[in-house]
Amino acid sequence: SQNIYILAIESSCDDTSAAVLCNDKVLSNVVATQKIHEQYGGVVPELASRAHQQHIVPVIDQAIKQAGITKKDLHAIAFTKGPGLMGSLLVGTSFAKSLALALNIPLIAVNHMQAHILAHFIKEDGYKTPQFPFLAMTISGGHTQIIEVRGYFDMKVIGETIDDAVGEAFDKSAKILGFPYPGGPLIDKYAKLGNPKAFPFTKPKVDGLNFSFSGLKTGVLYFIQKKVKENPDFITTNRDDICASIQYTIVNILTDKLKKAVKQTGITQIAIGGGVSANSGIREALQKAEQNWGWTTYVPKFEYTTDNAAMIGIVGYLKYLNKDFTDMSVVAKARMKF
Ligand code: KG4
Ligand code: ZN
Repeated sequence: SQNIYILAIESSCDDTSAAVLCNDKVLSNVVATQKIHEQYGGVVPELASRAHQQHIVPVIDQAIKQAGITKKDLHAIAFTKGPGLMGSLLVGTSFAKSLALALNIPLIAVNHMQAHILAHFIKEDGYKTPQFPFLAMTISGGHTQIIEVRGYFDMKVIGETIDDAVGEAFDKSAKILGFPYPGGPLIDKYAKLGNPKAFPFTKPKVDGLNFSFSGLKTGVLYFIQKKVKENPDFITTNRDDICASIQYTIVNILTDKLKKAVKQTGITQIAIGGGVSANSGIREALQKAEQNWGWTTYVPKFEYTTDNAAMIGIVGYLKYLNKDFTDMSVVAKARMKF
């Protein structure tokens, strides 16, 4: 059968990314991460859209060049329609439309959240793909959801955060400790050296499969303020134990809900995605769950878990096979359901 080449564009938040796929294989996946937000301790939407405008042409050119093809070889353009920051989405959406129009090839609109899940279907040596049905947990700086997945485009959100995303819980706790943004990876790094039970933080009581992380952040803040008042060196002398305790609490919140979801659905296949799936505590907990509870867990290659265009490309390919194209009247959507 014919090889299908798809160019995918992702610009929903602060990473400008373009990828070229040949069927379900990734030929290139270029990501330009915006450093500008570090000094502000979070993503500044206005600066993000400006940086997307600067990055988008070189990033797409590089993706096509690295794939070893030319624009004429492309069969379709896939892009992130939403959810995300409007000013950021607009850059990718407008560019994808213009390019599809210029090349006279189909345009495919992709839901970013679906893409985080379908990233598991990128064909990659050494990685297995989940069987339907499975549970997906997307954990990042922007999302925290548990999704029941019965088919490529048959997904139902069964749990989500009612306030902060889990990545924000990591990053905001890290900020309280004086770490640079995004502090999640630093908490992970120091947590490996500390005692996870040194400081007990309370877990929120949230019904069903929903999550809440804003209480934890406040708990960490009050705890640190109190301790620093007693001992100004508290953070430096207890850094590793504080990080280990915060991470232990967050991992427990996530695994508690996953256990509940498994019990409720009877599904024991778990696929995770999003930047926080890089966390060593989560990975360890999932490994234990495989051994102790008979779950099968899937963690994609790291470059496909954080925001990237390859995951948009795999959805593009699956939609291409269904001839699920969109017309030029399509608009970006900041909020978007499955
Ligand atoms: O998926 P992502 O790159 O972007 C979105 O937010 O969509 O995720 C970034 C988030 C940040 O909050 C970052 O602190 C967190 O993932 N993160 C981690 C780790 N690596 C990235 N959090 C904890 N441990 C890590 N190792
Ligand atoms: Zn994302």
